[in-house]
Amino acid sequence: MEKINIGTNTFVYPNPVTLLGANVEGRANFMSLGWVSRVNAEPPYIGIAVNKAHHTIQGILENKTFSINFPDAGMVEATDYCGLVSGKTKDKSQIFKTFYGELKTAPMVKECSLSLECKLIDRVDLPTNIFFIIPRSLMRVITLIVVLPGWCINRRTSQRSSGTPGNKINISMNSGGQAIALKMSPQKLSL
Ligand SMILES: Cc1cc2nc3c(=O)[nH]c(=O)nc-3n(C[C@H](O)[C@H](O)[C@H](O)COP(=O)(O)O)c2cc1C
Repeated sequence: MEKINIGTNTFVYPNPVTLLGANVEGRANFMSLGWVSRVNAEPPYIGIAVNKAHHTIQGILENKTFSINFPDAGMVEATDYCGLVSGKTKDKSQIFKTFYGELKTAPMVKECSLSLECKLIDRVDLPTNIFFIIPRSLMRVITLIVVLPGWCINRRTSQRSSGTPGNKINISMNSGGQAIALKMSPQKLSL
């Protein structure tokens, strides 16, 4: 196959598309974020790169907290919108159903099946972007699962979990491991 030169760029293909959430001046804002990766094995760190011009970055610097949410295919339109329109000119706080975890200032997206609630510990200032680093111990993983009676195998957790009445359950993990086995019923969750 013939190759063509597409010039200088930093494409790493494919990239996941996530939604980065932060409270800017007390209001939730979400932007599309592809530049997210594991950056250290032990201790486990994750890193994200955000352009200094974006509205969301103000919220990260203001609160030192933010969220990384993983949208599914059905959310492609809304996710794309968050990557095309800035919170400087449009209020993006109502696009998703938002909720907050223990950090209180990191808005998360209810519609996403996986959200990471993150607390910033370090940053690297680059010419156009800031690279934010979050150790896994300062990250909480929250999955929203539609409750089905019986066993649902997920991942191990060394932390707590909480069941909420109704059809959703929040599972919170701190620095624990990777696998949890969950026994779920509409009112009760046991690990
Ligand atoms: C698919 C996709 C991925 C993106 N990934 C990033 C990214 O990783 N880092 C970044 O700084 N901007 C990224 N952007 C651009 C921002 O999401 C976009 O400029 C957004 O409108 C900024 O919103 P804000 O000004 O409300 O923060 C991406 C855009 C799209 C469409």
